[in-house]
Amino acid sequence: MAFTIKINGVDRTADVDGDTPLLWVLRDVFGMTGTKFGCGKALCGACTIHLDGTPTRSCITTIDSVGSAAVTTIEAIGQTPAGQKIQKAWRDLDVVQCGYCQSGQIMSASALLASNPHPGDADIDDAMSGNICRCGTYVRIREAIKQAAQSNGREG
Ligand code: FES
Ligand code: FES
Repeated sequence: MAFTIKINGVDRTADVDGDTPLLWVLRDVFGMTGTKFGCGKALCGACTIHLDGTPTRSCITTIDSVGSAAVTTIEAIGQTPAGQKIQKAWRDLDVVQCGYCQSGQIMSASALLASNPHPGDADIDDAMSGNICRCGTYVRIREAIKQAAQSNGREG
């Protein structure tokens, strides 16, 4: 069955079964491999994308459940104000180690910053708790989110 969904502002059509995970559609149908497969069970956060701005695990989101929601992926998050700040802070602080978890981390952090321009430690812990990093980059992730939030302050 054909499903048309809006990905990064563009309508894309995939001819797949309705229970196909959005993650597979992104990676295998559209070749958008920035979104990663980790656990496939909503436990690691590697596959995080945004649905209408809300961080969502694409591994357990079926294509037929997306409907008219706007899908944003790591390929386009840098075009949003929060995503741009987060990516700059990630580069400035050299957050990434192996990198596998990082697109998911950036998607969760960008959603946090978009909804809360000045998150505290508890806000960061809450928003990022579902994103696992086997390399243990948590300290740098926290600092990068705080740096990105400071840039909100300077502009405000
Ligand atoms: S691959 Fe989706 S949460 Fe792990
Ligand atoms: S940077 Fe390696 S898993 Fe997070």
